[in-house]
Amino acid sequence: MKFIHISDLHFHGTDEKNSEVTKTLGNLNKNYPSHCIIVTGDIVDDGNKEQYILAFEALQHFKKRIFICPGNHDFGTAGNFYERKKAESFDEYLMTPLQQNGTFSDDNLPVVSIIRENNDQVMLIALDTNLETMDPTDFACGNVGDKQLKALKDILSDSSNATFTKILFFHHHPFIRSDFTMELNDASKLMEIIKNKVNVVLFGHKHDSDMWRSKYGIEFILASNNSPGKGSAREITIENKNITVNEVPID
Ligand SMILES: [Fe+2]
Ligand SMILES: [Fe+2]
Repeated sequence: MKFIHISDLHFHGTDEKNSEVTKTLGNLNKNYPSHCIIVTGDIVDDGNKEQYILAFEALQHFKKRIFICPGNHDFGTAGNFYERKKAESFDEYLMTPLQQNGTFSDDNLPVVSIIRENNDQVMLIALDTNLETMDPTDFACGNVGDKQLKALKDILSDSSNATFTKILFFHHHPFIRSDFTMELNDASKLMEIIKNKVNVVLFGHKHDSDMWRSKYGIEFILASNNSPGKGSAREITIENKNITVNEVPID
């Protein structure tokens, strides 16, 4: 089973401004027609309807093999000001038509999908890490929240889920400590819950590619850059529970 991790597509409301992202997604569709695609948020730039419509037009080609979560730019203008309406638009224009296994604006619970192929069973867990605040001094910070953390803890401690290889993905970077405008506020609580319990963690937000091996007892922790126009992305292969990660071309 193969996945490609991309992030921070930042769709704008006019086609002219989306040429890079459209080209990158076209390459992915052509060159990796059976890979699952995981997009870790900031799919659009301001949460506007026009942006969501253009994003859906490009992403619909990956239906049934795409898995998404929201970023701060999906829920607020310039990524800074949370608006309930924009969070609902994310569900209406992307989550529901892309046939995701749930929505975020109602329950704000993890969205869990199961994929089975040959000997492998993979559980994908998507979180909404957007801080629901109207206070501009919260900037682009994130928060998982106690309700979502509790639900995640329950999923990971359920013995009937023990056989799944688990990929957890969300938008905010959990290891930012030097930029208070970007931090995931409850990252330490999140890491405490997931340590030794998931196999792969994926996120974006910082627009910087990075990789950590065996940190917190997690085999791979991967940060994606902002993928449009970039030369490569990470491919995650799961075969007989064995996980390998490679850089693959997307240009
Ligand atoms: Fe971004
Ligand atoms: Fe972001």
